[in-house]
Amino acid sequence: MSASMNDVASSLLSRIERCEAKVGVIGLGYVGLPLAHALHHGGLPILGFDIDQNKIDAIREGRNYLQHLGDELITSLRDSKRFEATTDFGRLGEADIIIVCVPTPLGKHWEPDISYILQTAEAIGKTLRAGQLIILESTTYPRTTRDDMMPAIMTAAGEKAKALQIGRDVFGAFSPEREDPGRKSHSTSTIPKLVGGLDDASTELASAVYRKGVTTVVPVATAEIAESAKLLENIFRAVNIALVNEMKVVLDAMGIDVWQVVRAAGTKPFGFMPFFPGPGLGGHCIPIDPFYLTWKAREYGHSTRFIELAGEINTSMPHYVVDRTAEALNGQAKPMKGSRILVVGLAYKADIDDVRESPSFELIELCKHRGAVVDYFDPLVPATWAGRKHDLKMTSVGYDAATVASYDCILISTAHSKMDYSVIAKNAKLCVDTRDAMRAYEAQMGARLVRA
Ligand SMILES: NC(=O)c1ccc[n+]([C@@H]2O[C@H](COP(=O)([O-])OP(=O)(O)OC[C@H]3O[C@@H](n4cnc5c(N)ncnc54)[C@H](O)[C@@H]3O)[C@@H](O)[C@H]2O)c1
Repeated sequence: MSASMNDVASSLLSRIERCEAKVGVIGLGYVGLPLAHALHHGGLPILGFDIDQNKIDAIREGRNYLQHLGDELITSLRDSKRFEATTDFGRLGEADIIIVCVPTPLGKHWEPDISYILQTAEAIGKTLRAGQLIILESTTYPRTTRDDMMPAIMTAAGEKAKALQIGRDVFGAFSPEREDPGRKSHSTSTIPKLVGGLDDASTELASAVYRKGVTTVVPVATAEIAESAKLLENIFRAVNIALVNEMKVVLDAMGIDVWQVVRAAGTKPFGFMPFFPGPGLGGHCIPIDPFYLTWKAREYGHSTRFIELAGEINTSMPHYVVDRTAEALNGQAKPMKGSRILVVGLAYKADIDDVRESPSFELIELCKHRGAVVDYFDPLVPATWAGRKHDLKMTSVGYDAATVASYDCILISTAHSKMDYSVIAKNAKLCVDTRDAMRAYEAQMGARLVRA
């Protein structure tokens, strides 16, 4: 225990260390649910909060609404005396530690929408008491924890706030989630966890909490360093994906296979990290988070040219793929208008059922716009639902020889690993592959295979 700790902080620290401190996790989605599980596994009592009654009901019924995590995760929580889930935010006062894992989308004009954080802050403020530690995990622009969330909590606390000082009575920290849903090599408990407090005591307390469920905790000097590090990680990905997508367009025009080029470059043991091209960016993080910094940078009179250029290239990818599809159909003397296209893979990446910001939606809409008749197949996404931009109201078709043969073109947008691609190889009249899923069938397919 460091000298920065007063009696309130040291009492909370020893309760965390003895696993007596209760953790409230707000937002039981892709981030909050596995986090609740990891901390529970480490011995801490958990009280989960969500505004979505369906999620709370699913937990009570032992059903996992996030398929990639499996039912066992849910049943182990449901059957434990140390776990409860509720929609009753009046119970936030029971929690000694509150971890906020709510969405941070972009608004209509690509501006950060931190309204979910602010709503949550208001609920926390209402039951705020001395000895609580609030940790923000939602990805956001630097200074949100200090300048937006904590002041909103104190405002909502009203009269009570007069007796409560941040860093003395209540504590605050930011710890970014680095979840990569579907990745088998890492889980919430094995991905190193950055922790930055508003002050030293907050960093120490938050680090102690995460040590219960995460193997490696990396304390950093401030909340702002943790907030900015998360953005840097995602911007790094967005920029490198854009770079390789730009390479793809140039190399395609030169008749050079970009996938082989990336693999060849990837043999260099230092100074290079392979990124692969695709039909565009998807998911809750990479297409969105960089623009949180773009918005904040303007307040300081700066522009973020790398981020904007990467955004421009990545958002042009679905158009490029659809142009290549039209060309490929043309090669078979078929116009796009009236052609039947099957988009394979609706999720934004392989082996998960998450369709948020998926470029597949863009591909479907662009093909339809050019007059094609479009269906989709995704073994993990039986039907579409309304998203931020798209509401296609479609259901997945089947996947068999006759179905595949009935389309003029199979457009692979996402390559789930458990799919049998030989069905496409044997039966497709034409396949446009944006994920290099058909490499093994290259010889068999000949001119019926086009990469884009
Ligand atoms: N999904 C990822 O892979 C990932 C990775 C790293 C960081 N993040 C970040 O983590 C945050 C959460 O993302 P997610 O993917 O878990 O989102 P999600 O949509 O899966 O989960 C968010 C949950 O919060 C609930 N919710 C919404 N408003 C609420 C409120 N006011 N009070 C309580 N609950 C509320 C929703 O019902 C939902 O269950 C975002 O900031 C995201 O950028 C996500």
